[in-house]
Parts: sequence; C-alpha cells; structure tokens
Amino acid sequence: MFSRFKKPEGGTPKAATMAPVGAANAAPKSVAQPAKPATPGLAPARNAPRAPAEAAAADKERKRKDRLQELKVELHKRLLENLNLAALEKATESNLKAEIAAISAEALDEMAVALNAQDRATLNQELYDEVMGLGPLEPLLKDETVSDILVNGPQRIFVERGGKLTLTDITFKDERHLLRIIDKIVSAVGRRVDESNPYCDARLADGSRFNCMVPPVAVDGSLVSIRKFKKEKLGINDLVKFGAFTEEMALYLEAAVSTRLNVIVSGGTGSGKTTTLNALSSFIDNTERVLTIEDTAELQLQQIHVGRMESRPANVEGKGAVTQRDCLRNALRMRPDRIIVGETRGEEVIDMLQAMNTGHDGSMTTIHANNPRDGISRLENMVAMAGIEMPLKAVRSQIASAVNLIVQASRLQDGSRRMISITEITGMEGEVISMQEIFRYERLGMAPDGKIIGRFNATGVRSHYSERFKQWGFNLPPSIYEPIA
Ligand SMILES: Nc1ncnc2c1ncn2[C@@H]1O[C@H](COP(=O)(O)OP(=O)(O)OP(=O)(O)O)[C@@H](O)[C@H]1O
Ligand SMILES: [Mg+2]
Repeated sequence: MFSRFKKPEGGTPKAATMAPVGAANAAPKSVAQPAKPATPGLAPARNAPRAPAEAAAADKERKRKDRLQELKVELHKRLLENLNLAALEKATESNLKAEIAAISAEALDEMAVALNAQDRATLNQELYDEVMGLGPLEPLLKDETVSDILVNGPQRIFVERGGKLTLTDITFKDERHLLRIIDKIVSAVGRRVDESNPYCDARLADGSRFNCMVPPVAVDGSLVSIRKFKKEKLGINDLVKFGAFTEEMALYLEAAVSTRLNVIVSGGTGSGKTTTLNALSSFIDNTERVLTIEDTAELQLQQIHVGRMESRPANVEGKGAVTQRDCLRNALRMRPDRIIVGETRGEEVIDMLQAMNTGHDGSMTTIHANNPRDGISRLENMVAMAGIEMPLKAVRSQIASAVNLIVQASRLQDGSRRMISITEITGMEGEVISMQEIFRYERLGMAPDGKIIGRFNATGVRSHYSERFKQWGFNLPPSIYEPIA
C-alpha cells in the first residue's frame, strides 16, 4: 500500500533494519532533513528547557504532557521523513496505524526513551491524528458531547458542552502548528488564508462548520470556530424534552408549518436557530418540493423531495462567487413548493420576501436578532442595504405581508436554549407592523446552582390564523391559548 522511505546513508545504524514496505515509491528524500542523531534520555529540551528541580515539582502530570508533546514533535518530524506521503491516501487506517507504531517505536528506541504502553498508545494516536487528521482538534471532533470548538491562539482551546463553555487542557505546540492545521483544512476545500486573505469559511470533511481568522488581524494568534455537525439532529420531540418549548407550542408550530405560514426563526449566535429550523421542517409534507439554500450546508431535511444548494465564495482570482441571492433567484425557476434559506443576512432578503409574497408560502429562514421586533428592523435594514430605494412604509408592508410568524430562540445564561417567544405578524397599523405574541417564556428566578427557573406561558391571545388552521384540518384546542395564572 504505502511505504517508508529508506533512510539516507548517513542515517543512524538502526535505519538499516527498517525494511521498506512495498518499496515502489521508496526514493531517498530525507537528505533535506537528516534524521537527528540518537539522543540519550528525553531528547532535546530544545524548546522548553526544564530544570531538574522543577521536574520534580508537583505538576507531574503537566510535565508528562509536555514531554509527550516534545516527543510527538520529534516523532512527527521523523514520520514525515519516513512515511511515503504519496501513498498515504490509499493506505487503510489499520495499515497506517501499524506503520506509525513501527516508526515511532524505532525512533523511541533510538532516542532511548522508555514509555509505558498507555503513553505509547496516546502518542501513536496523536501522531496518526497529526498525519491524517486535524491534530489536537481530532479528539474534540470525535467527542460527541462537544458542540462547539473555539480556538483562541495555540494555547487556548475552549469547548462547549451542554451550552456551557469550558477551557480544555489541549493545546497546539505553537502558532505554526495551529497554522499548519488551519492550512490543511482550508486547502482541502481549495481556499487559502494568509496575511492578505486572513479569514475563511469552510466545511470539514464530517460536515462541521469551520471559520478561521489568522494574524495579524487575529492579534494573539489564530482564531478558529467550529460548529460540530450533529448526525442526529434534534427533532421536535427532543426539543420538547430538553425544555426548548412545550407540547402545546409544538402543536401550534405544527399547524403553522403545515398550513404554510412563512416562518422566521430569530435568535442570537448559537441560540439554536438552525436546529429549530431543521426541527420545524419535519412538519413539511413529503409531497412538497423543498429547496434549501445555505452558506454552509447544515440543514438535514427528512423529506424525500429536497434540493440542497450551498453558496460559494470567490476563488483566489476573485472569480466564481455564487451568492445566496444567486441560488435563491435560480431556485425560483426550479419549481419549488417551499424555499428554506439557512440564514438571511444580506441582499438575498429582497428575493426571500418576494418569494414569500408570491406563491412560495411556507418558506422559512433564520435571522440574527434578539427579539421579534428587532428581527423586523433587521429585515428593514437588510432591504435598505441591498440598495432598494423604497419608502419605509412600503418596505414594512412588504415584510408584513411576507412574514407570518417569528419564532424567537435564545440561549439563556445557564446555557439552556429556549424558544422565548412565538409572535405573529398580523398586518400594518399606519406605518407600523402590528404583531401579537402567542407564547412566551417567563423567567421567575434563579436556582442556587445557577439554573434559570421559568416557565412557558400562553399570552391569552388567540392565533390570528385560527381560522386558517381550522380550514386546513388543524383543530387546536382553545385551551392552548389560555395562560396559566
Ligand atoms: N434546545 C436545545 N437544547 C440543547 N442543545 C441545543 C438546543 N438547540 C440547539 N442546540 C445545540 O446548540 C448548538 C447550536 O445550535 P445551532 O447551530 O442551531 O445554533 P444557531 O443559532 O444556528 O447558531 P449560529 O448563529 O452559529 O448559526 C448545536 O450544537 C445544537 O445541537
Ligand atoms: Mg445557524
């Protein structure tokens, strides 16, 4: 499958014993980086010399990690010298792991470093991740409990678990190491980042959403944000179970989506907008043709008739960009029953509103806003910024007739994500868009452990769309609109 390069003549005597496996590609190459001579003990404390007294100090565990990190760097270098990189792609995982284990055992031997079996296994896994995966990020990507990974420079990696951010003890060796991993990610999707082009969006092989910004724009080292892709998206029942909304609200939302109201999910960053949109889409009938448009494809609709589109940034020469607006305009020629735009954030708002107004009712999107009223202002601003010269009243009446419902998602201080408001748009009153809230989350206090105490309640207002629901066969019990005292 693949083979190690033969070590050069001047290599260490051990090298002679390393029989090349499958010698087809075995060309001597490592002249450029001759193998380091064997060093007794832990080789080179080149980067962080450690005094023996300090070595005896209490932080034994950290020392062990540093030592493994140093070894890893050294072994990684040797691996790159010895592995036949061209053949890596075809190698099976177990083949490659065996090969890495062999090379690293040999190198450790040469350096006269003794490691216990567990450290050896950890080291080999990390080396494998370094060669084939995304290095230190790899265990976090595999950890199902992690939903976000946030890197602030090489020494600080935070993760989000259950809505809470925590600092991990995982680090990159230095900024160069971090940059190398970033480069690996962006070059895999044909992009590059450097000083003149310091940020980039990409999608990881597993579907996770990736964004990076590198120095000098990122002041203290590269910034990376990864929203992990969840294979098992949260459904309506999961969200009810997690307390994101109640069964009554779910009933209402089912009626709203099934009767083709145009829905906007509004919320702050990471508040669960995409998750909610995805869950709401489960109410769409299987007979409908749904087209989805996103900057980074995250939605996973369960229907059979779904066409997915993903916008594309310009290439290095500044050509070939396909914007969400381009996709949306094209989508309108593709006979959609419904259009779902992952997030409306720019000029595509015009086409989205038009689509919602002209026969593609039942369309959905998300916007970044902290409450439904702000959501409307965001839409107004986006229309203005798209360069459409229209009196404000006209813009508002467009919005009022396009959008039926705003579902407000929010991440509360305790990390829980809740649908804090379901608000209907009922029309215009003079210059103002009139809205009525149907359900809301009421905060009642805070438990000693920091958990927010609250409840969902109806506002007592009956849905503006009750008649429509009835006509479509959704007979919601009037009690769902009754508030608890
Ligand atoms: N009700 C919920 N309970 C628990 N976890 C949730 C809930 N809603 C969303 N999540 C999780 O929170 C994370 C963020 O959710 P999501 O991607 O939907 O947010 P978003 O508002 O679309 O974020 P962004 O603004 O970055 O696009 C995901 O990992 C998701 O699985
Ligand atoms: Mg999102």
